[in-house]
Amino acid sequence: KKSNYEFPKEFMWGGATAANQLEGGFNQDGRGLSIADALPGGKQRFEVVQSPDFKWQIDEQKYNYPNHLGIDHYHNYREDIALFAEMGFRSYRFSIAWSRIYPRGDEKEPNQSGLKFYGAIIEECLKYKIEPVITLSHYEMPLTLAKDYGGWKNRQLIGFFERYAKTVIESFGDKVHYFLTFNEINSAMQHPVMGQGLVPSNGGNDKQNVFQAWHNQFVASAKAVEIAHHFNSKIKVGCMLLYATSYAYNSDPRNQLANLQNNQDFNYFCGDVQIRGQYPAYTKRLFSKYGFEMSDLEITEPDLQQIKNYPVDFISISYYMSTVVEVTGISNEQVAGNLMGGVRNPFLKVNDWDWQIDPTGLRIALDELYDRYQKPIFVVENGLGAKDKVEDNGKIYDDYRIDYLRSHIKAIGDAISDGADIIGYTPWGCIDLVSASTGQMSKRYGMIYVDLDDQGNGTMKRTKKKSFEWYKRVIDTNGRML
Ligand code: BG6
Repeated sequence: KKSNYEFPKEFMWGGATAANQLEGGFNQDGRGLSIADALPGGKQRFEVVQSPDFKWQIDEQKYNYPNHLGIDHYHNYREDIALFAEMGFRSYRFSIAWSRIYPRGDEKEPNQSGLKFYGAIIEECLKYKIEPVITLSHYEMPLTLAKDYGGWKNRQLIGFFERYAKTVIESFGDKVHYFLTFNEINSAMQHPVMGQGLVPSNGGNDKQNVFQAWHNQFVASAKAVEIAHHFNSKIKVGCMLLYATSYAYNSDPRNQLANLQNNQDFNYFCGDVQIRGQYPAYTKRLFSKYGFEMSDLEITEPDLQQIKNYPVDFISISYYMSTVVEVTGISNEQVAGNLMGGVRNPFLKVNDWDWQIDPTGLRIALDELYDRYQKPIFVVENGLGAKDKVEDNGKIYDDYRIDYLRSHIKAIGDAISDGADIIGYTPWGCIDLVSASTGQMSKRYGMIYVDLDDQGNGTMKRTKKKSFEWYKRVIDTNGRML
C-alpha cells in the first residue's frame, strides 16, 4: 500500500538482536558463562530465578537452557547477515557478549578470540554497507560478576565495565559509530535479574539495591560516553529505555496523578539521569516510596560530576505495548506485557502472550520523548511475538506480523510529521531467536524463520517469511510502500 510518509533519506532501517538470544556457542573459544546461561527455558524461567534459594546454579538434569544453543548464529553469522543485507538493512543492532571479551568480567586482559568474532561480524556488516549499532550490555553480564561480586549493586562493577567498554570501543570505534550502553536499563524495577544480576539471594528484593545498582550503571554509562568521545568524535552513545506508554484509566484525578508518577518512575527516571545528566527533582518522592533517602546510597561528588559531564548523545527505546494505571479500585483486571504488566485497556487487542497492541501509543511515546529531551530518538526494538505456522508448501504467511509492523511504522511516520527527530527503526528479532522472558523459540518475532523448537530440536534451517519481502520493499521505498 502506498503511503505519504516522509522518512529521512538516511533513516536507519534495520533489525535488532541480542547475543545471548541468538549466538549459542556459549562455551566456545574462551567465552565465560553469563547470567543468561543460567536462565532455564520455559514460561517458569522467572519463577525459578526469583525463588529465594536460586543461586545461579546451572542444573542440566532439571532444566534445559535454550540460550546455550541460541540459533547457532555463532557459526551462521555470515549467512544470517547476508539475509539481512538481502532485505536491504541499512543498520543492524546486535550486542556483544561481555563474557566473550572478559570471560569472568574481572580479568585484566581481554579474550582475543572474542574480539576476533565481533570484528568479523562488523566486517560482514560493512561489506554490505550496514551500519553496526552495538549494545554493550544486553541482559548478560558475566556470571562471575553476579555470583561472586553480587551484581551491579557492587561499585567494583563500574571499573570492570569501564575496562570492557574501553576494549570494545578502542577495538571497533573507528568503524562503529553507534553504541548503546545498557539494554532496557529501567526494566530492573520489575526484573533486576536481567540487567543488574540481582536475585533474592543477593538482594534483588530490596529496591534500595536496585537504585544503588542503577547509580553504578549511570556512572559506568557516563564513563563509556567519555571513552567513546575521546576515542572518536564521530561516535554517538545512546541510553536504551523500555518505554511503555502509560495511560490513566479515566479522568479521576487520583488515576491521573498515579499515572504521572508511573511515567516518572518507570519511563523517565533512568532517562532523566542519563540524558539530562542529573537526578530529577522527583527522586526524593521516588526514594521515599521505598523507605530510603539519597544519603543512604553510595553516591560520590565525582560520580555526579561524571554523570553531568557525559550525558548520552541520543535516546533509544524498545516499544511493544502500552500500559494503564488504575488506583481507585474500579478495575483490577491485569494484563501481561514486556517484563511489566498493568490494568487491561478495554480499547486494545492483545497478542498471543497478552501484550496490548497499541501503535498510537508509539506516536505518543515519540512525541513525549522528543518534547522532553530534544535529542534524536532511535526505535531499536519493536515487534510482534507470535506462533508461526509452516504451511505444507514450506511457506510462512505472517500477515499478522506485517499488520503490526506496518501500523507501528506509520506511527513513527506520524511522529516525524509531528516534528520529532527519529533516526532509525530496528524491529526486534529480525531473525527468530530465543525469547528473553520465556526462553521459548515458539514466540517468534522474525522475518526469517528458524527451524528450531522449544526443546532445541530442528534443522536450524532459515526460511524467508512473507514479512521478509514486505519489509524489503518498505526499506527499498524508504517507507513509501507499506
Ligand atoms: C525486550 C528485550 O524486553 O523485549 C529483548 O530487550 C526481548 O531481549 C524482547 O527479547 C521481546 O521480549 P520477549 O520476552 O518476548 O523475548
